[in-house]
Amino acid sequence: MKKVLVVFYSQTGQLTQVVDNITQPLKNTPVVEVVLREIKPKNPYPFPWKFMTFMDTFPESVYLDPCEIESFEEDAHEYDLVILAYQVWFLSPSIPITAFLKSAYAKEKLKNKPVITVIGCRNMWIMAQEKVKSLLAHIGAKLIDNIVLVDQGNSLATFITTPRWMMSGKKDALWGIFPKAGISEAEIKDASRFGYAIKQALEKDEEKKFISLCEGLCAVTVDVKLIKSEKIGTKSFQIWGKLIRKFSKQGEIKRKLFIILYTVFLILIIISVVPINMAIQTLYRKMKKDEVLKQKEFYELPSGSSMDRMKEFSNHE
Ligand SMILES: Cc1cc2nc3c(=O)[nH]c(=O)nc-3n(C[C@H](O)[C@H](O)[C@H](O)COP(=O)(O)O)c2cc1C
Repeated sequence: MKKVLVVFYSQTGQLTQVVDNITQPLKNTPVVEVVLREIKPKNPYPFPWKFMTFMDTFPESVYLDPCEIESFEEDAHEYDLVILAYQVWFLSPSIPITAFLKSAYAKEKLKNKPVITVIGCRNMWIMAQEKVKSLLAHIGAKLIDNIVLVDQGNSLATFITTPRWMMSGKKDALWGIFPKAGISEAEIKDASRFGYAIKQALEKDEEKKFISLCEGLCAVTVDVKLIKSEKIGTKSFQIWGKLIRKFSKQGEIKRKLFIILYTVFLILIIISVVPINMAIQTLYRKMKKDEVLKQKEFYELPSGSSMDRMKEFSNHE
């Protein structure tokens, strides 16, 4: 029997739903045992968020400072495959996920194991996955797949709908122009295709080869328009995060002042620099098509965006 460890954290329950759909085909087969482990921070992060608390987490998210998490129940299992489902906070893995990846449990259970990452976020996940890649490499885990589900609507729409959902808890469509917040229900349901493919691969011992099990299922699509923005955003978060983290601690009054200052700076940048940068980037992408394509292919590794196995595994009964 194959043993699959599934580690996840979700605030709103969205990522739990994604995990449920992916693992359903695995739970329905007697040849696989699924062990679910939910990460629980000792001081739970609030949902919905207050603006200040939301911004307060940015320096620690960016600098991969772990929070305290509840220990997992001891188990003697040697896992054949690990699925790690996470959300992005400030272009980085969320703090509870960082805490898990830095835990003794992760060091013990993920070493030399094939790992599939599953991301559910607004739409900016590339730099977060680069950080997760290094955290996984650090503990000797082998990344074999990356599945990414992003919020419905274009970047402009989700710039409104995702923060509104995070700070009010409201997910409904808005004014007839903005779609519902979060990943579409259809996408969440169709995530079961990955489960069917993983189940078939486990039956054939494919995970032992440390190759992608979800290739051909459109597991990940890089939006090339966001690559440069993510890089610039990460740099800005690093500079400000370093400063804020050096001079103040989470929750301190001093921290609030820094956060207000940074928010004002961000708004000014969004109004002035972002539109100019967008125009420059559009031009750059037109002139450097090959380079941009190379970057897209790199960030889509190891699963890729091809769709040639979709028919076989999508809408599976
Ligand atoms: C503090 C915070 C920061 C976030 N930063 C990002 C981000 O940088 N990129 C992104 O695509 N989504 C971001 N999101 C959205 C989350 O990735 C995710 O979609 C949302 O929290 C719902 O996930 P969950 O309910 O399963 O935890 C952020 C959310 C929070 C709460």
